[in-house]
Amino acid sequence: MVASQRSPRRILITGGAGFIGSNFVHHWCKQYPGDRVVVLDALTYAGNQASLADLEDLETFRFVQGDIGDRALIDTLLPEENIDTIAHFAAESHVDRSILGPDAFIQTNIVGTFTLLEAFRQHWLKRDKPGRDRFLHVSTDEVYGSLNADDPPFTETTPYAPNSPYSASKASSDHLARAYFHTYDLPTLITNCSNNYGPYHFPEKLIPLMCINILLGKPLPVYGDGQNIRDWLYVGDHCQALDVVIHQGLPGQTYNIGGNNEVKNIDLVYMLCDLMDELAPDLPIRPARELITFVKDRPGHDRRYAIDATKISTELGWNPQETVAGGLRRTIEWYLAHPDWWQPLLSEEYQKYYQQMYQGV
Ligand code: NAD
Ligand code: TYD
Repeated sequence: MVASQRSPRRILITGGAGFIGSNFVHHWCKQYPGDRVVVLDALTYAGNQASLADLEDLETFRFVQGDIGDRALIDTLLPEENIDTIAHFAAESHVDRSILGPDAFIQTNIVGTFTLLEAFRQHWLKRDKPGRDRFLHVSTDEVYGSLNADDPPFTETTPYAPNSPYSASKASSDHLARAYFHTYDLPTLITNCSNNYGPYHFPEKLIPLMCINILLGKPLPVYGDGQNIRDWLYVGDHCQALDVVIHQGLPGQTYNIGGNNEVKNIDLVYMLCDLMDELAPDLPIRPARELITFVKDRPGHDRRYAIDATKISTELGWNPQETVAGGLRRTIEWYLAHPDWWQPLLSEEYQKYYQQMYQGV
């Protein structure tokens, strides 16, 4: 949307210190410099204020450390900042961690989302239900379950069939966001996207983990037979899609967002290795493919995700711009240029998690 054609918004971005959230905060501050941008983030292990460091001096920007489940805090924050738009990213987001310990997923993803919805509803009622208000609930394609090789991609009407504690908790929060529109007319919008990648991605997820392990000369742990398929969406494309949904999406609707980039995990890792050989030619272990190690599969590992993004393309005119080859190159270049961002994340806590997860690999 062209900034000059709109009146400013006062947006609360939850989880804005996380991977997609911080990319979205940068996108929004750049696109709409006249808007008030308030970030609410609990700074869990996945939250990193350094991802927002360059915005801290903006007068229009405010960072609040806090939990989306803290009703008193949100009841204060919404009227204090006169919030009219919420972009809700805050979540526990890693499938493997949800298998190791699901409690936090239930608390943040379900109870936290409910708390935020209910607080926003009260705030919206007190202001006489402004029609322009929006509550964007950012969710995942994982709520639809797993596809076989020949199945058609997920559409917005694919039945929910979540398989992990993570996806089950996200599915539950989607239902709450949907119910708040149908029951109370609260202008909620839901987006279900595929696997994102790009700058500011915490090292535990596939792409940053592989990039960083190549740089450190460590094994590249590929689960199972490496034949699982994911659709890869460059985070900048995703932020643009969310912008379009907030401005043009119809309240009560769901929009699937995908990258049109279905790749087998092992092929993705090959691409990363080859790009790293090209972009970081001085690393001691070359070719990087030598580091690939097949490890025990993830329990209940979904075989394939694929998104049919026809609805957002035809109704809102959004289409992904980045190819997986181009996006991976940009991502690797970013990690090579920003060791100051990712090195501090390899903390003692992270090493403990890594040890528990990969058991000596
Ligand atoms: P992330 O784990 O990188 O970041 C989550 C952020 O939420 C962190 O900054 C964390 O500190 C914050 N947070 C966690 N619990 C909180 C709480 N109780 N209160 C306030 N803040 C809290 O996650 P991400 O990858 O950026 O994902 C953002 C959203 O997008 C999530 O809702 C996720 O389910 C969804 N999503 C992600 C992907 C992906 O590929 N990363 C794909 C589909 C959907
Ligand atoms: P991940 O980045 O955790 O995203 P999600 O599970 O939400 O799709 O994993 C992407 C794919 O990569 C998934 O099929 C699991 C696989 N994977 C590995 O093979 N090795 C790893 O070390 C990780 C983290 C993931």
